Amino acid sequence: MSYIQRARQKADALIHKGHATVLAVESSCDETAVAVVRDGRQVLSSEIASQIDIHALYGGVVPEIASRMHVEALSPLYENALKNAGIAQSGIDAVAVTFGPGLVGALLTGVSFAKALAYALDVPLVPVNHIEGHVSANFIESPSLEPPFVCLVASGGHSHIVNVTRYGEYELLGRTVDDAAGEAFDKVARVLEIPYPGGPLLDRLAEEGDAEKYRFPKMHTEGKYDFSFSGLKTAVINQAHSIRQAGGEIGAADWAASFRKAMVDALLERTLSAARDTGAKRLALAGGVASNRLLRRDAKRRGEAAGLEVFMPSPRLCTDNAAMIGAAGFYRLLNGKIADLNLNAQPSIRLIEE
Ligand code: KG4
Ligand code: ZN
Repeated sequence: MSYIQRARQKADALIHKGHATVLAVESSCDETAVAVVRDGRQVLSSEIASQIDIHALYGGVVPEIASRMHVEALSPLYENALKNAGIAQSGIDAVAVTFGPGLVGALLTGVSFAKALAYALDVPLVPVNHIEGHVSANFIESPSLEPPFVCLVASGGHSHIVNVTRYGEYELLGRTVDDAAGEAFDKVARVLEIPYPGGPLLDRLAEEGDAEKYRFPKMHTEGKYDFSFSGLKTAVINQAHSIRQAGGEIGAADWAASFRKAMVDALLERTLSAARDTGAKRLALAGGVASNRLLRRDAKRRGEAAGLEVFMPSPRLCTDNAAMIGAAGFYRLLNGKIADLNLNAQPSIRLIEE
């Protein structure tokens, strides 16, 4: 019997049992991560090696450096993940891995590692979409959360509003037509001379600022639930340059607070109208930008005022990690979505068209 025939049989047995311990691998960008997750909800271990300090020297992620560092980090992280989970290799029922979207070289390191591991352990290999991973981070700390729910996914590379109709089934309600939300945060942070990745530091600075001090233009898009951050970003950056050229100074904290408010209002207005129009009862946040303090506070306040139950992962599960891949991988496995050893990285894959 071939590997894939045995993997199918094993996957069927796991589906029948409804239980699985999943070893998950994430390497789509600048974080290498390995985790062990039981039944999609219980994190036994979650190891992360961040490369941020190195990429910060260049002002952004350098793909070649990212790939090399992933290769070095994967094996030790795997050893630690097993040790900290307190399980042996034989305790792994399936291997889940991010196969896209992301940087092709970075993705390939994780995909190759996961393929070798799945083959060596003779267990099913589960390909996971990175965006689906972000959405699934919500399952980890919220045992009561089940589909259907509307989810705002806002990260460094993506900004989507999705309707999660069932586990592993998504309807795309809206998306950015240009920059991602995290990208806009990072680019505006640069004007304030905040080092990469600017989003988290800009958020911290904004806590001390007056959000009413500066006025920025409102977002316009053709699609009712779509986002466009490039206009806002350019307006904010140009305004800063004009003030400085005229010899003025911009109050960094007030500037950060005003920009953050414009971003959060734009994100929530569309997300809340999508939730209202689809008759959703639950709203979830996901992706790196979901660790933004104002977004978290306002989503809770405005969501609950609209009669929604509001969910969000704790900040460390919003940014890239492997626990979320293990959560998504479990539900994919239950849906029978396993791969053979020809699995390839798919850098531009979307959440819906798989
Ligand atoms: O999800 P993530 O870790 O990686 C991607 O899949 O892209 O998201 C990283 C992005 C970066 O752009 C980062 O600046 C942004 O999320 N981010 C934030 C905050 N924390 C991370 N943006 C605004 N406020 C934050 N607190
Ligand atoms: Zn991400």
